[in-house]
Amino acid sequence: MKNNIAILQVGDPVLREKAARVDIVDYALLDAMADAMFAAKGAGLAAPQVGVSQRVIVMRPDRGIEVLKMINPELSEFSDDKISMEEGCLSVLGPDGPVYAHLTRPESVRVKWTDENGILHDEIFDGFKARVIQHEFDHLEGVLFIDRVSSLKRAMIMSKVKKAAAS
Ligand code: NI
Repeated sequence: MKNNIAILQVGDPVLREKAARVDIVDYALLDAMADAMFAAKGAGLAAPQVGVSQRVIVMRPDRGIEVLKMINPELSEFSDDKISMEEGCLSVLGPDGPVYAHLTRPESVRVKWTDENGILHDEIFDGFKARVIQHEFDHLEGVLFIDRVSSLKRAMIMSKVKKAAAS
């Protein structure tokens, strides 16, 4: 897999598939996803966004150089407390980059995943981390953040996406 893999944009059917569980770690895929995430200055990226319908996520938990690589992540124990945060997606680009919208989601969530070395993890994420993992997990279910905003807001976002696609 090349380093400069393309990130699929909304409208591509792969983004709407439920991704398959993974049995064998594809290190080249993980590296390519991390490279693509950094190149695009994203906080996270899910394999379906690069055309691979597998349950694999990379994310930057602190917006820094550390990368969490997650295979078959599972979410549970969503907090009753919900918070509004701005979200964007590398698969929903307008003329000036990601189109952002405020979205309400649980403030914290329990995450179980297998890392690239086959080690199981089980942690509670909150704040920014919880937000990124919920967004990326949605991608594995074929869900985009624009599905979770009002139809009016979605129409505004999609008009910007169409502008970007036309330019
Ligand atoms: Ni996204």
